[in-house]
Amino acid sequence: CGIVGYTGRQEATPIILDGLKRLEYRGYDSAGICTLNNGHAETRRSEGKLINLENLLAKEPIAGAIGIGHTRWATHGRPSEINAHPHQAGPVVVVHNGIIENYLQLREELRAAHHTFKSETDTEVIAHLVEKKLRESGDFEKAVRQALGELRGAYAVCILCETEAGTMIAAKQGSPMVIGLGDEEFFVASDIPAILSHTREMIFMEDGEMAVFRNNKPAFSTVAGAPLTKNSRHIDWSPLMAEKGGYKHFMLKEIFEQPRAISDTIAGRLLEEEGDVYLESLSLPDGELKKVERICIIACGTSWHAGLVGKFLLEEHCRIPVEVDIASEFRYRNPVVNDRTLIILISQSGETADTLAAMREGKARGGKNVAICNVVDSSIAREADGVVYTHAGPEIGVASTKAFVTQLVALYLFTIKLGRTIGTIDKEKGQAMIASLVKVPALLEKTLELNHQVESVAKRYMNARDFLYLGRGINYPIALEGALKLKEISYIHAEGYPAGEMKHGPIALIDENMPVVILVPQNANYEKVASNMEEVIARGGRVIAVCSAGDREIAGKAEVTLEIPQDNDDLAPILLSVPLQLLAYHVAVLKGTDVDQPRNLAKSVTVE
Ligand code: G6P
Repeated sequence: CGIVGYTGRQEATPIILDGLKRLEYRGYDSAGICTLNNGHAETRRSEGKLINLENLLAKEPIAGAIGIGHTRWATHGRPSEINAHPHQAGPVVVVHNGIIENYLQLREELRAAHHTFKSETDTEVIAHLVEKKLRESGDFEKAVRQALGELRGAYAVCILCETEAGTMIAAKQGSPMVIGLGDEEFFVASDIPAILSHTREMIFMEDGEMAVFRNNKPAFSTVAGAPLTKNSRHIDWSPLMAEKGGYKHFMLKEIFEQPRAISDTIAGRLLEEEGDVYLESLSLPDGELKKVERICIIACGTSWHAGLVGKFLLEEHCRIPVEVDIASEFRYRNPVVNDRTLIILISQSGETADTLAAMREGKARGGKNVAICNVVDSSIAREADGVVYTHAGPEIGVASTKAFVTQLVALYLFTIKLGRTIGTIDKEKGQAMIASLVKVPALLEKTLELNHQVESVAKRYMNARDFLYLGRGINYPIALEGALKLKEISYIHAEGYPAGEMKHGPIALIDENMPVVILVPQNANYEKVASNMEEVIARGGRVIAVCSAGDREIAGKAEVTLEIPQDNDDLAPILLSVPLQLLAYHVAVLKGTDVDQPRNLAKSVTVE
């Protein structure tokens, strides 16, 4: 979910609506806005995408220079207008991102005290709890502090009160929140891009902190009431980076931005002569790195696929055993971690709740950690012992593309750094690894020329019901990622598999209706994958081969070949990702799905 709040001298609604648009990636199954107009709460809510709310507001406008808004990704209660935020109880109006774990118990208690609930949400409980406390004390701020003190779980909330119409209160526990400072105006949001077109000065709220804006004067404190001094930070992303810039979809724009994203991720970090890299915010002393006996990479979704590639890089070049885990598994598993374990968290947003919790779990067991994040000062980045930032720029399309390839680059950089520190990579090898890396942006540009060809491939196969993706070794995670991309945005069922494992199951699915995407670049596994391809062809499967440029062997056998430039084996996953991203994209466009905001998904899942 995403929240936005505004208090100042302008009309709040357009500012909040604009902010919600930029947060729509966080969920988009319903939305709502409330403003206070002369002490009267005016609320508009609607099911479905934000455009429905916009249309409603055009017909039934609301006024006021203070307001809150919300775009929802359903957790408790199905998507509907009734369950859409803001929720109101008496004079109290609330928007909330997160999950209140004890809401059932609180709701029972409130019902016993004659509160009646309209929705199935946990959020409405917050509104009622504040209302109850307000009746007791008559003090809005105090009521909010008391109510928040009784909540268990995660929240970022923004609260208004009709009887104190110049006041907006925001607080956070476990869900992200940033506050933008304007000229006698203030913005509250779940994420930077929501308010970036209004201000670059931002304050990052920490867990247990609260901001009270009274007549456009801010005061920061802990929820318990201890005053705080908060410093702001200047954000140097340009708002333009979050616009579509002529592309039909953010996803396509982001696919084409990949060469630049990679150049930016490399920039200023290569020590070419020494065959080493400089990672400015790694902040783990060499001594710590030398102690590492085992590495756990933890992530979710696409970032987890990047982690699987990382295992190949780190084991190959650093000779340290690496385990790759899904965050929601790791955190509940009783994992083996000690002070010689290095935990690498990978998260584009830096806000994924499971990844954040896994980081805390690993830390509690004595492990040191490094986060690979794209969003500066995100929760994971702030809490980690060290960070390697990817510099992909804001990624808006829900299906991750440029963030993914920059994660691969970050892992490659970290491998060089670790290998050089512990001595498994010598200077010459480091120089060679760097030399290969700097070629990648240009090779990617070349790979992007496949776009039109991939579009025609998409036309040919778009009606298939299932797809299989196969790869081996360091490219097998890319088969998983290719399948995930197709699933996410075209809703076609797809499976990724290590090519050598196909014979142990998926081979039973192969027939003349099943397109099989095979990643077969010329590397050490080439012959093996080529034989797997023969096995598919022998069973009538339709092969779309992604191979090295000029590979006649493969071209002679596959139904379609997509040729990528020949590259260093470690970096081939980056190039191979491109035709798979484009394939998913074009199939989705042809099918007419909502490419940037596929159904049921959210870009940043800040709940468990
Ligand atoms: C969501 C997104 C995925 C993403 C995953 C992890 O499920 O839809 O695209 O890979 O979260 O996100 P993170 O920000 O932690 O990389």
